[in-house]
Amino acid sequence: MSDPQVLTSQALTAIGKAQKEEELERIELDYLGRKSGHISQMLSGIGKLQPVERAALGQSANEAKRAIEAALAARRAELEAVRLADLAETEAIDITFPGPELGRGHIHVLTQVRRQIETVLESLGYQVELGPEVETEWYNFEALNISAGHPARENWDSFYFSPELLLRAHTSPVQIRAMQRLKEPPIYIITPGRCYRRDAPEATRLPYFAQVEGLAVDKGLTVGDMKGTLLFMIQSLYGRERKVRVRPSYFPFTEPSFEFDVTCGICGGMGCKSCRHKGWLEVGGCGMVHPQVLRNGGIDPTEWNGYAWGFGIERMAMLKHDVDDIRLFYESDLRFLEQF
Ligand code: DAH
Repeated sequence: MSDPQVLTSQALTAIGKAQKEEELERIELDYLGRKSGHISQMLSGIGKLQPVERAALGQSANEAKRAIEAALAARRAELEAVRLADLAETEAIDITFPGPELGRGHIHVLTQVRRQIETVLESLGYQVELGPEVETEWYNFEALNISAGHPARENWDSFYFSPELLLRAHTSPVQIRAMQRLKEPPIYIITPGRCYRRDAPEATRLPYFAQVEGLAVDKGLTVGDMKGTLLFMIQSLYGRERKVRVRPSYFPFTEPSFEFDVTCGICGGMGCKSCRHKGWLEVGGCGMVHPQVLRNGGIDPTEWNGYAWGFGIERMAMLKHDVDDIRLFYESDLRFLEQF
């Protein structure tokens, strides 16, 4: 019969040399296996012994078993630590680790506002019409009654590719394109899109921005029709408590022309810091389409008339969400964007 202490020291030596989990499993079976393990074999003849010897053998067999189990556990921990250390060295990326959860994005606030404007006006029967961002001098200026040398051209200073080709300074040229394409009034279109001007970035302006232009051509349209349409749009977007007003202004492509204001959402029209104590915020321009503009679009102004407007989408988003710096929309700072 083998000696438990000898068995134990043999087992511990084998465990200490083992380099792999499979080796440890084999050793475990060899020594601690229920049927044929060395310890069980050692105890198999225990019944023939004297009670005193029996107790002594039982105790030392148990001690041997516990010592071997402890050595197996310790060696397993060592081998696992070595495996992880190797992995860290050889693989910078542990592909067995779970990855970070993917964040869910959402639509940019300017796109949200543009789509809301489209939805509201589509509900009134307006159709979305798009035009090119690279525009000819004729569509951007001439067709809108802004002839070469006209001082109003300075308001729409843009970026030129050539004397005839430029980045459009407003969405108004799409009025002409729409009339030429659709030919037959009634025409009710809106045209959202990117515009460009030679302006330095500051809190209220950027060299690139978006506008949404509207054009209605029909019979006997009035300033009242225009104002009612724009009031409906503003109240749908900002709430029924908002009021609107038009002030006389000048644009070469409308006659009469107006600036269009909405009551400040912060003070409700009472006057506060953010509306510079005016109670009103300017959204854009509007007016009755100039007869020459209709003619340039191929429409007879003795038969038809129209109204039009051009609002800045960033300006409308600022009004809706009380944003005080236009640059925030384009800085891609998630702390800002995630609020909408
Ligand atoms: N195009 C003008 C601008 O960018 C805005 C504008 C004013 C558009 C009056 C219009 C209008 O259609 O009727 O400043």
